[in-house]
Amino acid sequence: MANGQLNIGLIGQAFMGRTHSNAWSQVSRFFELPLCPVKLMTTALDDEKNLAAFAKRWDWKQYATNWKDLASNPEIDLVDIVTPNNMHMPMAVFALECGKNVSCEKPLAGTLDDARLMANAARKAKKAKTYVWYNYRRVPAVALAHQLVKAGKVGDIRHVRAAYLQDWATPDIPLAWRFDKKLAGSGSHGDLCAHIIDMTRFVTGEEVTDICGSIMETFVKERDILTQQSGGGLASGMKGSAKKGKVTVDDAVLFLARFEGGAVASFEATRMATGNQNRNGFEINGTKGSLRFNFEDMNWLEYYDATAPREVQGWTKIMCTHGGSHPYAHAWWPDAHIIGYEHAFTNMAYDMILDLAGKKPTVPLPSFEDAYQTQRVLEAASISAAQKAWVKLKDVK
Ligand SMILES: NC(=O)c1ccc[n+]([C@@H]2O[C@H](COP(=O)([O-])OP(=O)(O)OC[C@H]3O[C@@H](n4cnc5c(N)ncnc54)[C@H](O)[C@@H]3O)[C@@H](O)[C@H]2O)c1
Repeated sequence: MANGQLNIGLIGQAFMGRTHSNAWSQVSRFFELPLCPVKLMTTALDDEKNLAAFAKRWDWKQYATNWKDLASNPEIDLVDIVTPNNMHMPMAVFALECGKNVSCEKPLAGTLDDARLMANAARKAKKAKTYVWYNYRRVPAVALAHQLVKAGKVGDIRHVRAAYLQDWATPDIPLAWRFDKKLAGSGSHGDLCAHIIDMTRFVTGEEVTDICGSIMETFVKERDILTQQSGGGLASGMKGSAKKGKVTVDDAVLFLARFEGGAVASFEATRMATGNQNRNGFEINGTKGSLRFNFEDMNWLEYYDATAPREVQGWTKIMCTHGGSHPYAHAWWPDAHIIGYEHAFTNMAYDMILDLAGKKPTVPLPSFEDAYQTQRVLEAASISAAQKAWVKLKDVK
């Protein structure tokens, strides 16, 4: 990080490639930073014409045609990985061995074995920092929920109810990498459940200890072989051939769990909950109060103060846009001039830059070690579904 610069190399240029490029572009415009991010180099699995066009559009100074050239480039300080889940491990481990800081999209990996290799490589690379883009931690309402729990506002937590519901995976959607176990590891489980496991661990500050009653279901068993990638959205613009291929991951998953402080919990994730397009949220009930969040209304956090006189108890709907009171709000717009999906990524870029400069991030960042704990919970739920049994987290390593 010479001359106060943070030189970034980005691997992957599609959905997350665009959100990350946007975050690295916007962060210095909105936040005061101790290091200046430089979009130095990018690559993807694409032809040179498209690589060059992406670099030009998003102001990346150079492009590479091979990810290893990018990850080993001596000028790069941070390798940012936004590829399908099966590539996270080889790319991250290689970059760490090249002495780079690494930020990687979630889930940490497609499998627990890969996740373990990544956590071990991070431990070994003592000087390198690692991050996983669990971006919902950096939605101001979720960061505020974390702070309120920490300040004791909900008391002892008794219930955690988390669901991440989407509905895009209709039968006409072709067989993208997200439906292939070899590339994705799992379906809605690793894709969506990973977010709510991380988010509830983050908000409660507690670890999951036990899991039972896990159910995984694949409703659409075959899909058209993919012939055209998405045009920007998750699945919009994808085209398939008349030939079918097998879906090898879950469409939906549900399970029950216990947290270390004694709370009982339920988790549900699906891509087939018609009418719910990105309903990612939780309700947490404690002895002193409750918190509720739904990403489709992401500027709001709901809080119930059970210590208020009974006659005035009720849900308070907090718009989390007040600079000085709400996390990250100072950097954005005046009160109630609301923010959207991309802002949490920019907030995360800000916190990573603080952390890399040795300063304290707004709220804790997920490292590879931290994301490995989320991956253990994912694995425990998969074991519970396969064995129809209780699984203790201490037995899943
Ligand atoms: N944080 C979030 O909210 C969020 C949302 C969506 C996806 N994700 C995660 O981000 C990652 C990428 O998902 P996406 O939706 O952007 O996928 P995508 O299919 O839209 O993009 C994948 C990109 O990776 C590139 N790629 C694939 N193999 C490569 C290789 N060998 N070398 C170089 N580039 C390669 C592709 O060319 C493409 O640019 C996944 O791990 C996914 O789980 C996170």
